[in-house]
Amino acid sequence: MSQKYRGVLIGVTGIGAGRPSRTSGIPVYDKMGGSHASAYHQHPDTELVAICDLREDALQKTKEIWSDVWPDLRVYTDYREMLEKEKPDLVSVATSDHFHADMTVAAAEGGAKGILCEKPIATKLEDADRMIAAAEKNNVPLSIDHTRRWDPSYLKARELIQSGEIGSLRTIVSEMFSQRAMLFRNGTHLIDLIVFFAGSSPEWLFAELEPGFEHFTEYKGDGGKNPATDPYASAYIHFENDVRAFYNSYKLDHAGSKNSLTCDGGRIEITDHNLELITTKSHYEWSTSNVRVENYRATHQLGGLYEIIDVIENGGELISSGREARKTVQIMLGILKSHHAGNVRVNL
Ligand SMILES: NC(=O)c1ccc[n+]([C@@H]2O[C@H](COP(=O)([O-])OP(=O)(O)OC[C@H]3O[C@@H](n4cnc5c(N)ncnc54)[C@H](O)[C@@H]3O)[C@@H](O)[C@H]2O)c1
Repeated sequence: MSQKYRGVLIGVTGIGAGRPSRTSGIPVYDKMGGSHASAYHQHPDTELVAICDLREDALQKTKEIWSDVWPDLRVYTDYREMLEKEKPDLVSVATSDHFHADMTVAAAEGGAKGILCEKPIATKLEDADRMIAAAEKNNVPLSIDHTRRWDPSYLKARELIQSGEIGSLRTIVSEMFSQRAMLFRNGTHLIDLIVFFAGSSPEWLFAELEPGFEHFTEYKGDGGKNPATDPYASAYIHFENDVRAFYNSYKLDHAGSKNSLTCDGGRIEITDHNLELITTKSHYEWSTSNVRVENYRATHQLGGLYEIIDVIENGGELISSGREARKTVQIMLGILKSHHAGNVRVNL
């Protein structure tokens, strides 16, 4: 039986088309999300009807791994032809960063009802702007897969801040360490979290890149595979609401990331694995509590898909909109500019 929302996917590497292995043996307890295709599989009202990639071998492999779910999955090497012939309700864009713009604009103008596009939204602000404009003009929710925005712990931390219970947010310190601590590939996620918590627009910044990246004046978008092609960075970012943020990353053999959110009346320490609230009565008295997070129906790309469909059906704002994602590109490009101008202040 055909589902209510017919989706197509452009770009069939792991994040686009991967299929999580079954761990529990019980169908309803499969691992959540993990890829766009997996989200279409798990959402009760969606199906994937076609996929597109330039690589025939990758298309055939994807068709094969999903053959028990979608035996009639159609394949294309030209995304415009796929959009024209399939007239999909939902479009997933999971190609390299510098290709997102044309595909998203074509989907928005071609009649799609919703778009889930990979992060970062684009490599240039002009590209982000035309994606946002096409989506808004055609009234199409455009959601960007900054995946942690659908993570219960990060949502809970933001809820705590917005509740005012621990006073106003003053500073954010976000750090990421690993050999893949690359600004454009992985840093996007952390910088997006800074934007998410700050709840404002970045105003100015100054920054320093990894040594040896004097040639790296422009991000071309084809990075992500090799850490040697994408630098680590440190930056101070000032937001319009006076929140002060520090982004820091370094390529190290041990991996991890962490965020400290300091408010007038307490501090939140949050990682991908833990959420702690620290409140103090005086210099010598403090209490630390692990915050319990309620279970959510969906996270990752599945969370994104649920949200797009909810916005299509009921209206409202997306938590990971194109406009929010644009701020992250603004910051990353500002970091490059500041470094090359001698680590100076850059107004955004
Ligand atoms: N949200 C996350 O956690 C997460 C994780 C990994 C990657 N990503 C993002 O996902 C995107 C894809 O990453 P990747 O490393 O798989 O990229 P990639 O460069 O390997 O490209 C993905 C696929 O797009 C295909 N492609 C390129 N141009 C095309 C075209 N014109 N038409 C059809 N297909 C085309 C390529 O053949 C390739 O198979 C990037 O934007 C990346 O930043 C996000």
